[in-house]
Amino acid sequence: MAARRFSPLFFRSLSAPSSSFLTRSSGKNGFSGRNSKGFATTAAAVEEIINPPVQVSYTQHLINGNFVDSASGKTFPTLDPRTGEVIAHVAEGDAEDIDRAVKAARKAFDEGPWPKMPAYERSRILLRFADLVEKNSEELAILETWDNGKPYEQSSKSEIPMLARLFRYYAGWADKIHGLTVPADGNYHVQTLHEPIGVAGQIIPWNFPLLMFAWKVGPALACGNTLVLKTAEQTPLTALYAGKLFHEAGLPDGVLNIVSGYGPEAGAPLASHMDVDKLAFTGSTETGKVVLELAAKSNLKPVTLELGGKSPFIVCEDADIDKAVELAHFALFFNQGQCCCAGSRTYVHERVYDEFVEKAKARALRRAVGDPFKKGIEQGPQVDSEQFEKVMRYIRSGLESDAVLECGGERIGNKGYFIQPTVFSNVKEDMLIARDEIFGPVQSILKFKDLDEVIQRANNTRYGLAAGVFTRSLETANRMTRALRAGTVWVNCFDVFDAAIPFGGYKMSGIGREKGIYSLHNYLQVKAVVAPLKNPAWI
Ligand code: NAI
Ligand code: MG
Repeated sequence: MAARRFSPLFFRSLSAPSSSFLTRSSGKNGFSGRNSKGFATTAAAVEEIINPPVQVSYTQHLINGNFVDSASGKTFPTLDPRTGEVIAHVAEGDAEDIDRAVKAARKAFDEGPWPKMPAYERSRILLRFADLVEKNSEELAILETWDNGKPYEQSSKSEIPMLARLFRYYAGWADKIHGLTVPADGNYHVQTLHEPIGVAGQIIPWNFPLLMFAWKVGPALACGNTLVLKTAEQTPLTALYAGKLFHEAGLPDGVLNIVSGYGPEAGAPLASHMDVDKLAFTGSTETGKVVLELAAKSNLKPVTLELGGKSPFIVCEDADIDKAVELAHFALFFNQGQCCCAGSRTYVHERVYDEFVEKAKARALRRAVGDPFKKGIEQGPQVDSEQFEKVMRYIRSGLESDAVLECGGERIGNKGYFIQPTVFSNVKEDMLIARDEIFGPVQSILKFKDLDEVIQRANNTRYGLAAGVFTRSLETANRMTRALRAGTVWVNCFDVFDAAIPFGGYKMSGIGREKGIYSLHNYLQVKAVVAPLKNPAWI
């Protein structure tokens, strides 16, 4: 029983050396074919598709330390968003696979060493995993970009290092989790024990596959839980690779189980499973409601939700306009606009509005769109045809409204899911593009007169995930940070995601917080232990 039983195909294909890759991808600074407006043209976007050097033909679920087929034998393709072509076939999970995975996690929790081992040992396994992430960072970054479409430079320079950082952060917590001694009336010794909650079910989306893996798996493991993770159907590859690395790091079998598949077929049975003790979900508000109801109707498992947003980014009249333009651009367009906290309502003070719009348009026209594997590319394709169509529908609704299209608005090329960076000005509160989460490269710029008004308008949404304020006045900043009803308020910065900073939503943007010390509470039970200080008369 020496060798670990990983899917041979997966294992072999992903361990192929890929040193030629970087040379190839960095050789061309791929946005030569730009038209007069500065957009990346069809040719720039799709003609020079770089073939990643790794080969993945088929991957399986990770259950109880083994890579295994689906009970049904079914598979589904995961697609390359640059072309719509198949990258690999993936075992497609359903209720039976979820049940197998939950049974493995249950056994690993009830009978296995993980919850009972010295916390320092758990910590060391998380640290070893982080080391392996760094060692395998190139393959991880390639797979993340290939499956999702995000720029390779973003995957490799930001997200993979952050993945390692997050697990080191949680490794640091593992042996510092403990309860309290509680003063109580009467002659009692009262203590609280902070115990792992049991088997966690976790459902993640496709926009940051590995970071969402870390936000969920990190705190669950640090606290001694076991878990079943359901990845997004668009991006199943990197979590499986991370699961393989976790077993190399010494994680006991059954602690981390990963099932690929679609929401209703694999996600729903996880949310409603009677033997899952806690559910964590990131995705749309709509699906968040569904899983909350499934959890309530089954065994009342506690649920944390990280959902949609329509975050305001407020540019005050005292702001340095050039810097505000750049930050507002980043706040919206980062990750192809596919961020739950995207600054998707850009509020600009009327005195600087026209200048801001001109410069925001110029910046969007300069945005480098193309094959995400090419150096210098800022924007790749949207993740899939469904997201692409959704964004194009919102662009059409913007065109049909009284908003002014400053630039963009069209597809790039005829294959893959590339969309021109799009800017609308003259956007009004009641327009669909100002109300709904578009989740794409579409900036909506609104005008405001004074702070009272913009606070009221910024808060007039069913969401409350994040907000940005750009000002040189400390007084304005303090006032806004107190008044804005959002889980994160960034002042003169945006998308700062340190491992220690809690993240989550007010209102319909979610329930609970991830990252930081707050995330541990999601994965712990508090047990009160009460005993008399002296032997009482009744014993
Ligand atoms: P979704 O919320 O439907 O999917 C997220 C995850 O939930 C995926 O793993 C999916 O398989 C799973 N899921 C879907 N239906 C389920 C069900 N009935 N039971 C259990 N699990 C289920 O999001 P989708 O369809 O990928 O994107 C729709 C919109 O959601 C996007 O356009 C965007 O506006 C928003 N979204 C927000 C994210 C965030 O970070 N908060 C991430 C992804 C999408
Ligand atoms: Mg969906």
